[in-house]
Amino acid sequence: MNGAGRQDDHPVIRSIRNSPVASVVSDPWQPENPIIVANDAFSALTGYRRDEIVGRNCKFLAGEHTEPWLTHRIKDSIARHQPVLVEIMNYKRDRTPFRNAVLVVPLFDEHDRLQYFLGSQVELPFDALACSQTRHERAVSMVKRLSRRQREILQLVADGRRSKQIAWTLHLSEETVKMHRSLMLAKLDSATTADAVRIAVEAGL
Ligand SMILES: Cc1cc2nc3c(=O)[nH]c(=O)nc-3n(C[C@H](O)[C@H](O)[C@H](O)COP(=O)(O)O)c2cc1C
Repeated sequence: MNGAGRQDDHPVIRSIRNSPVASVVSDPWQPENPIIVANDAFSALTGYRRDEIVGRNCKFLAGEHTEPWLTHRIKDSIARHQPVLVEIMNYKRDRTPFRNAVLVVPLFDEHDRLQYFLGSQVELPFDALACSQTRHERAVSMVKRLSRRQREILQLVADGRRSKQIAWTLHLSEETVKMHRSLMLAKLDSATTADAVRIAVEAGL
């Protein structure tokens, strides 16, 4: 892991280190919303070394056949601090095109202030319609394994909230939230927090 200064101060940032899903975190408080952290899976997927990634806006993955309306949808969601999941044409370092199911979600600090954006990228087969349907169905069935409380917590985690805020929102102690959260991650096949956020959005939670 690499990047400027504060990159370990959000649990989602720590969790992407161990994620098999290509993931980046960007800092919207810096000009151009640059990537500050990228994991090994992101390098493996895109072919870029970490030193070619950190400090740049993620739009370097776009190219000739990237759908402008999908880029606009991502841009609009970023501006409104809303999560977004789109399947967009992107390009690897060697210019190989790939269909990218990209998720971008805002992460908030303890005072509900926007802190970072998490991005995660999954390469889809070119016949992606069936695949995205499968991912949706898989995510829905995983979310169904959760208790109502765990689902509530997953929803708040996917909204970028931290344990302290979740505890406050649900009138629980932070310890109780953390206990539910680790049970919830175990039920989602030991997903990292970042993976759980993705499952939540894919499920349409
Ligand atoms: C964390 C994060 C991850 C992103 N990942 C991708 C990506 O994988 N592919 C992509 O085409 N755009 C991605 N974007 C969107 C681009 O960075 C950029 O916001 C978008 O292309 C709009 O650019 P513009 O504001 O210059 O028009 C990501 C944005 C963020 C904040």
